[in-house]
Amino acid sequence: MAGIAVLGFGVVGSGVVEVIRKGQESINRKAGENIELRHILDIRDFSGHPEKRLITGNPDVIFNDPGVNIVVETIGGIGPAYELTKRALLSGRHVVSSNKELVATHGTELLNTARQNNVHYMFEASVGGGIPIIKPLSECLAANEITSVTGILNGTTNYILTCMAREGKDFDAALNDARREGYAEANPEADIEGMDSCRKIAILSSIAYGGHVDYRNIPTEGISHISYEDLKIADMMNYRVKLIALSRKIDGKVFARVCPAMLESGHPLANVEDVFNAILVSGDAIGDVMFYGRGAGKLPTASAVVGDIIDVARSMDRSRMNIWNQDGSQSMADPNSVDTRYFVRVKVRSSEEARRLISEKFGELEFYEFPDFPDQLMFKTVISTDGFLTDRISELRGTGSISDIVTTLRILEQ
Ligand code: HSE
Repeated sequence: MAGIAVLGFGVVGSGVVEVIRKGQESINRKAGENIELRHILDIRDFSGHPEKRLITGNPDVIFNDPGVNIVVETIGGIGPAYELTKRALLSGRHVVSSNKELVATHGTELLNTARQNNVHYMFEASVGGGIPIIKPLSECLAANEITSVTGILNGTTNYILTCMAREGKDFDAALNDARREGYAEANPEADIEGMDSCRKIAILSSIAYGGHVDYRNIPTEGISHISYEDLKIADMMNYRVKLIALSRKIDGKVFARVCPAMLESGHPLANVEDVFNAILVSGDAIGDVMFYGRGAGKLPTASAVVGDIIDVARSMDRSRMNIWNQDGSQSMADPNSVDTRYFVRVKVRSSEEARRLISEKFGELEFYEFPDFPDQLMFKTVISTDGFLTDRISELRGTGSISDIVTTLRILEQ
């Protein structure tokens, strides 16, 4: 028998309970064990809820119950989630988690604690919602040297960008819809400013390259400065704008970044829309492989959590925690020294003079002008290092007839 305690009865926790209740028989069969929900920890009032008899506000009820051997952490954040995860692992209980912030921040330590206590710490649901990616990356693709991971890893921002581009919906209205659907974080700034994607690419990169990648070393930009105009212009040029999280192995170092980027419409990630996420992984043996599915939401995320519960129930007698190396962090490449290309949109008083000034800095370029934006000039830079390009672009501001730089966006090449 596998006795389960769910910590946190919010969007994901309640989804886990729903999925287990609905699929109980087939879940038991696949697990080879009876999966028994024994407790739900939440301090809020759930009077009248059908699961009321399982709900407690006291963690000791769970830790004093010898029948609980799998703890499901769906609280989110650090604080109590960290304390309770640590306590569960130290007490010899397996932990299944959807908590990307906790895995990205304390994953190395918690994996170590799990190993020392011969239990599992599983977190398939921490990246990509319902998409299987942690296990494929750490197990199915283990034969490969992974060279890059590129993804759309946040459902909320992808949903917002899709609503803005497709329906012309206002940013705040799209965000409110994403919150109502249960996609957004309690503090949606983590979605919008890219921190959620940053933590997720740190987790994937740690697995992909085998050593801890600290999310605090990943330059991160969100989508709060992306306007409807940016999306419209990108569309007119046959591009899409997506919040991209990527990492690459370059000369033994890891380069990682989160930023909004323009993708040509034929790029495999360009048409990933709404709450969907996708992750493109390149390995030396497999070449390219792509994972796609719902990246947020109650049931997709619960699907990944319950998948981990079944996996743990099948192999409760051993820890399988060689997900990444515990000794030291990955050394990171200088993000300024990595090659990229920018799309730049500037406000001009005289297009002719502006073209001349820009060409002086960047050499011969292709320019774009659109009748809907009569005072604006657009161009794609040459490929050069990020640091070089950002310096040259910022020198344009207020030069001659260039009155302002409206937008700079990196272009993600295929
Ligand atoms: N807020 C997250 C997202 C939830 O929108 O992707 C899933 O991790």
